[in-house]
Amino acid sequence: MSKKPVRVAVTGAAGQIGYALLFRIASGEMLGKDQPVILQLLEIPDEKAQNALKGVIMELEDCAFPLLAGIEAHSDPMTAFKDTDFALLVGARPRGPGMERSDLLAANAQIFTVQGKALNAVASRNVKVLVVGNPANTNAYIAMKSAPDLPAKNFTAMLRLDHNRAASQIAAKTGKAVADIEKLAVWGNHSPTMYADYRYATIGGQSVKAMINDEQWNREVFLPTVGKRGAAIIAARGLSSAASAANAAIDHMRDWALGTNGKWVTMGIPSKGEYGIPAEVMFGYPVTCENGEYKIVEGLEIDAFSQECINKTLNELLEEQNGVKHLL
Ligand code: NAD
Ligand code: LMR
Repeated sequence: MSKKPVRVAVTGAAGQIGYALLFRIASGEMLGKDQPVILQLLEIPDEKAQNALKGVIMELEDCAFPLLAGIEAHSDPMTAFKDTDFALLVGARPRGPGMERSDLLAANAQIFTVQGKALNAVASRNVKVLVVGNPANTNAYIAMKSAPDLPAKNFTAMLRLDHNRAASQIAAKTGKAVADIEKLAVWGNHSPTMYADYRYATIGGQSVKAMINDEQWNREVFLPTVGKRGAAIIAARGLSSAASAANAAIDHMRDWALGTNGKWVTMGIPSKGEYGIPAEVMFGYPVTCENGEYKIVEGLEIDAFSQECINKTLNELLEEQNGVKHLL
């Protein structure tokens, strides 16, 4: 093993998503089959949670992963984030049936001021942060604003699950392979207002929009299906999505760290004004990644319907931001 291990912090490590995530990180699916990792796992100090974390660690040990160079259990973010190179902030309350993700704001926002401050104090100066805990965009915004000594661009929110859901719906509609879909974008908030946009998407070089050729399906079936998929899973499972969320987190971090080879993916990132979104809003954009950096796909034409959708999801994000002003 020649590469130096990197430190990967995961919060909410004993939760549902944690259980679907940690084993894949430790097996090299996130950062590559040649990259050793040290897991820095954070759970709340509560005895039950810490015991559950011990059990997860026993299972990680029992996998004897060749790339797993160390495992640490923590109950304090100030030690959990020490020198961390990658931080996956999953730990937060999930919503139950009948709740919107924005209903979680009051319950979860405080977690991200504390954790943003801890990252600011002790993480690697190049730490890549992904916020999964809902409402993910606004929590990522809070963490970013609470970490003024770290580059704002290092804070991101998870829109990849929406992106993957959109790709899967398009594959089913067109009868084509999901792997062949290129140039898909999801704009805005990880909420039912997100705007999944296949106007530029192609399959084998052919336009998806032309292939589907059904604007009514786009507006009345596709957008609501992708937007309300989280609620549909909660209604069916009685619990929020976990394996698909963990999978999206792996996809997000892998692509950010290792690159996308020109392929568009969606990341929630702090705006610098692109497409008229006010600076610092944590907004879902189409990006490509290379050399550990993401770059927004610029120059796309925004038609009237798309602008209407983007305004709606932006307004929701601005309202959420306004609701957490007192914490910053
Ligand atoms: P869960 O309840 O199974 O697990 C959450 C874990 O986080 C628990 O073990 C809890 O003890 C821990 N936790 C709570 N506060 C913490 C803190 N301050 N520090 C460390 N750990 C803490 O929930 P889950 O199903 O794993 O979901 C976690 C979050 O991810 C929820 O907010 C959920 O809504 C969100 N989520 C986001 C997406 C997305 O696409 N962005 C997708 C699915 C779920
Ligand atoms: C999802 O999209 O599945 C998650 O954000 C969980 C939720 O509350 O919908």
